[in-house]
Amino acid sequence: MSDIRCIGIATGGGDAPGLNAVIRAATKAAILTHKWKVIGIPDGFDGLIWPEKSFELTLERVSGILPRGGTILGTTNRGNPFHYKSEENGKAVVRDISDQVIANSKKLGIDAIITIGGDGSQKIGYELFQKGMKLVGVPKTIDNDLSATELTFGFDTALHTVTDAIDKIHTTAASHHRVMVVEVMGRDCGWIALAGGIAGGAHIILIPEIPFTIKSVCESIGQRERRGSHFTIIVVAEGIKLPPELKENRRVSAVGHLIGNAVADGSGKEVRVSVLGHIQRGGSPSPFDRVLATRFGVAAVDLIAKGEFGKMVALRAGSIIAVDVARAIGHLRAVRPHGELVQTARSIGIAFGD
Ligand code: F6P
Repeated sequence: MSDIRCIGIATGGGDAPGLNAVIRAATKAAILTHKWKVIGIPDGFDGLIWPEKSFELTLERVSGILPRGGTILGTTNRGNPFHYKSEENGKAVVRDISDQVIANSKKLGIDAIITIGGDGSQKIGYELFQKGMKLVGVPKTIDNDLSATELTFGFDTALHTVTDAIDKIHTTAASHHRVMVVEVMGRDCGWIALAGGIAGGAHIILIPEIPFTIKSVCESIGQRERRGSHFTIIVVAEGIKLPPELKENRRVSAVGHLIGNAVADGSGKEVRVSVLGHIQRGGSPSPFDRVLATRFGVAAVDLIAKGEFGKMVALRAGSIIAVDVARAIGHLRAVRPHGELVQTARSIGIAFGD
């Protein structure tokens, strides 16, 4: 028999479509299946510094949030209670306020917390778990780069956005016989560029996991020209490792523009650049992400009911499983340069600039 009466839910790190679907699913399962009270903790763990800002999540409060992007709880990718940055007497100070955060969660009557977040939030959650807080994690990121799970929610929706953008760029690229560079997110991994590039019919994809040269990129453009295709779409992951000649400019311009300028010089073609940016994080979650988020939310509540703390829900071979948070954090799941997805892309003529 579980001794849980009340749970808290917090969303941390960058937002991703599907966060509200997890909040809704976990709240509904907690109330309808277990008759627990649910508290929404605003702005990640920051919400436990000011507990008066927390509020009850009722069935009415989560009604209608399934299709909404973002998070009704708010989030931050800066607040870390173990290294909390503030200003005291005009001076920047860093303090460990984790004890205060734990005490405040008790004050709110919270018995266990669901942390919905990426690598950074799960790390903080794990440290709080080691200090005695009852926590379970739900993985989130549009980057799809967490090692313990095959998929994170938000990725599929981001791919819809990227694919739609490339589809639109295709027609203008073809009409003007131009090279179009599309810069996408993904942090240090190339999943969004690779999958979005394949889905959108890109001709060249540049990702952090595969070193490239501008010369090779321009050769691929030249080959297309000789075949009678006078436009080229290049998808560039924001985290690419720039060739030495472009490295020093990284800070002054988005990588998409650096690649665009270098390709214009090297190919003699007219080039235009689109940086998709944060539109990839917004919008209504896709049906796939809504279902995955709902499964994760319910599974997280199940873990709490079973008393399995310090765990994170994950997707493996189509099933929802629980993994130790300790093993889930710390190393990212990069694209395998010789993996099946890259080989598939190469087989249909997509170049990687290598
Ligand atoms: O991790 C998600 C992500 O959108 C990355 O793809 C991107 O590099 C980063 O967050 C952007 O963060 P911010 O919203 O702080 O600019």
